[in-house]
Amino acid sequence: MVERVGVVGAGYVGLTSAACFTHLGHQVVCVDNDLSKVDELNRGEVTIAEPGLTELVRDGLGCGRLRFTGAPEELSDVDFVLLCLPTPKGENGDADVRLLDEVVATLPGLLTPGCVVVTKSTVPVGTGARLTESLGPDLPVVGNPEFLREGHAVEDFLQPDRVVLGSVPGNRTAAERVAALYGETNAPVWFTDPASAELAKYASNAFLALKVSYVNVLAELCEHYGADIRDVGRLMGLDSRIGPAFLVPGPGWGGSCLPKDTAALLRTAEHAGVDFGILRDAMKANARQRAAVVRKIRRAITGVSDGSLSGIRIGLLGLAFKAGTGDLRDSPALAVARELARSGAVLTAYDPGVEAVEPDTVQVVGDPYLVAKDAAALVVLTEWPEFRELDWDRLAAATERAVVVDARNLLDPATVGEAGFVHTGLGTDPNR
Ligand code: UGA
Repeated sequence: MVERVGVVGAGYVGLTSAACFTHLGHQVVCVDNDLSKVDELNRGEVTIAEPGLTELVRDGLGCGRLRFTGAPEELSDVDFVLLCLPTPKGENGDADVRLLDEVVATLPGLLTPGCVVVTKSTVPVGTGARLTESLGPDLPVVGNPEFLREGHAVEDFLQPDRVVLGSVPGNRTAAERVAALYGETNAPVWFTDPASAELAKYASNAFLALKVSYVNVLAELCEHYGADIRDVGRLMGLDSRIGPAFLVPGPGWGGSCLPKDTAALLRTAEHAGVDFGILRDAMKANARQRAAVVRKIRRAITGVSDGSLSGIRIGLLGLAFKAGTGDLRDSPALAVARELARSGAVLTAYDPGVEAVEPDTVQVVGDPYLVAKDAAALVVLTEWPEFRELDWDRLAAATERAVVVDARNLLDPATVGEAGFVHTGLGTDPNR
């Protein structure tokens, strides 16, 4: 059944939801208060780099089922309104819900009674119950947290692992109507209470963070005992209870979600008087990991972990927080780069998704071979698969010293070794 869907917020989650629900056959109006963005989107110009998103937005505009507006009044006849607003890290790590609350306060004056209010934003535990109370029976509230990875948002929306719907028992029919919006996806649809839906979202992101911190510390241990984290991770991942994903060490977990959601879950536990110290440990390990990568780079270049980098040229492959995106928010790669710059290193970087860095501590170039020019070392900081396919002989010839620190265990040590590079990975070489 074709439904009229309103989306508030044309950010990453809102735009993906708007485009995908249009693709699933619904009539969608997406409201954003940034009018220049609204104009751009109505012209089919999408600035968020997500595979498939521009095409879906253009298809939706073309068939007349998707439109963007700056006027919230255009929500007056929708059957559903999806709240896709940022809930950034606020004071002491709590999620800041002020923007969400401001919008919610306007809804009774905008919407027709019976319209279902769907929270897609990641909201603190208790928000669904609070909004249900404040909006009353005329505007039933359903929590429907998003589980969209950057770089895979459209795919994750259209082929989700699960669709989670949290509502109070009285709003169960509204939750079933939200489920029907997703049409024929084969995903398991799970109806639950609002707090469980909210907690499931935080708990999933924090668990992924724990998993990465676990493998990062394990990599350190591997170096000490001469084990190889690539084997250890693979062997752990063969256990179906553990699974192979998120077991690759790196400079740490970052981005706009894992750090904020892990901190918020820790605060949620503190408010409840529950000791969730394991999250605090994961956060500490994550902060240490950046420093550990910097030490490893110093050691690879100078022979000692506190050697001076003053005036030394280093070429960086990757700056984004992960491959497949140009997102620099809370990027461990960028944090490592900044620390190297503070130590006096002269940095050139190439990242397929990044054009510039503010402030300008790193010179970003558009050609991976330029970063190698006269470099004392190359450092892989983001796991772009295409870095494997580079001409490593050509890179070796351009460097001053053929040293590569692979902080993502991305490269094949044999291939780069044949090109003449001295290779250092994470958790792969004893005492490096
Ligand atoms: C994350 C979740 O994976 C999504 O399910 C969720 O919907 C999203 O947050 C959100 O809340 O909106 P994303 O921020 O795109 O998605 O990032 P991830 O793919 O989860 O990666 C997180 C970090 O872990 C990255 O810095 C990545 O490089 C790091 N990582 C991941 C590793 O260091 N090693 C691994 O093996 C895997």
